[in-house]
Amino acid sequence: MEKYVIEGGKALKGEVHISGAKNAAVAILPAVLLADEPCIVENLPDISDVSLLLKSMTTLGAKVEMLDVNTAKIDPTGIKSYIVTKDMSSGMRASSYFLGALLGRFNKAKVAPPGGCDFGVRPIDQHIKGFEAMGAKVSCENDMVVCRAEQLMGNYVYLDMVSVGATINIMLAAAKAKGMTVIENAAREPHIVDLANFLNSMGANIMGAGTNVIKIRGVEKLHGVTYSIIPDQIEAGTYLVAAVATGGDVTITNVTPKHLESIVAKLIEAGATVEQFDEAVRIKMERRPRRCQVKTMPHPGFPTDMQPQMTTMLTIAEGESTVYESVWDNRFRYIDELKKMGADVNVEGKRAIINGKDSLTPAVVNATDLRAGAAMVIAGLMAPGKTVVQNIEYIDRGYENLVEKFEKLGGVIHRVSE
Ligand code: EPU
Repeated sequence: MEKYVIEGGKALKGEVHISGAKNAAVAILPAVLLADEPCIVENLPDISDVSLLLKSMTTLGAKVEMLDVNTAKIDPTGIKSYIVTKDMSSGMRASSYFLGALLGRFNKAKVAPPGGCDFGVRPIDQHIKGFEAMGAKVSCENDMVVCRAEQLMGNYVYLDMVSVGATINIMLAAAKAKGMTVIENAAREPHIVDLANFLNSMGANIMGAGTNVIKIRGVEKLHGVTYSIIPDQIEAGTYLVAAVATGGDVTITNVTPKHLESIVAKLIEAGATVEQFDEAVRIKMERRPRRCQVKTMPHPGFPTDMQPQMTTMLTIAEGESTVYESVWDNRFRYIDELKKMGADVNVEGKRAIINGKDSLTPAVVNATDLRAGAAMVIAGLMAPGKTVVQNIEYIDRGYENLVEKFEKLGGVIHRVSE
């Protein structure tokens, strides 16, 4: 087991390069299974979720060659299997995308139920509703989700709630289905647009990605492409919040500032000064954070995946802040860890009420999931003294070179074996 040992209390300063987006990569890699020729995917983040997906694709029969640490050449033409077992999916949420991709390719798919971070119930009823509307029969056999269709047919699908996963899975299944699929109340996250751009560059016909109505006219073939994944909105946001929380001055590069608007708006409210460039954002904090009210929402609202980091920053804000989590039922489990560092936070249902303190105190804390883990690292950087963050394998799922990147900004953080 490994852990982070952090010597906190120093303002972060300097420049940090943001990696490719995890949540785009985990959709685009399964999408490669639909291609009739090899594809090259660039700007892949070097994180464990990506290596696990590539491993699963190899087990399915794809040929994967790493051209460099962030570029994979994938030849899916030899794939014969449509089965993704529990061992192959390693409990990853994104393994559910194999359902849409394999169904789209073979008209059948058998996939172990997706896992992922534990923030309450994580159903896939809306994914299934979409597949069934397209003519698939969906059942549960020996603890595996099984989808079968004679021929997938385009149809109209209204999502009962905005779901990133269901939108992506239906797009994957519909790309080669017969006729037109319309997704109403679709998710609008940047990674949905990135997946649509990737599929369209292979010859798919997808319109409206980035709005709440996506229209997919099925095509017969998808050719090979070279495609570069968008920058990671959440990794970028994590470094912005870390800069503000430590009273720093940080420039994040290789970003799309438009994707960061809701995060930057809240940080300005908290008192930060922000300069935006074409592909960079500089953030500077020269005062104690002001109190804020935050409510997580699907894009373009404030992202739920930035909620733990933002709440952590607000533990040292002036006065009382509130954070309302409207996407997930149970995403405040990490608050008990923050309390170990002296944070004054009360959770009432989906709302956290934070009474800002002058500073956090160091402690031994656990990463309870990926983003909560990033939040613990920020807390460690904020608190003067030595903080230990355990269970860091969660953080490895989604942050490339976290230690090197924080060290470059002057943070003192070491990865050590227990
Ligand atoms: N939901 C349903 N039924 C469904 C699907 C979703 O009730 O069939 C509910 C969920 O329970 C949740 C809400 O709808 O309350 C939104 O879930 P969504 O489907 O949008 O989430 P997801 O696709 O499972 C992705 C990201 C998460 C991120 C959410 C919300 C990936 C691999 N995961 O999950 O990212 O929190 O969208 O933006 O893209 C992370 O990166 O740390 C992470 C957890």
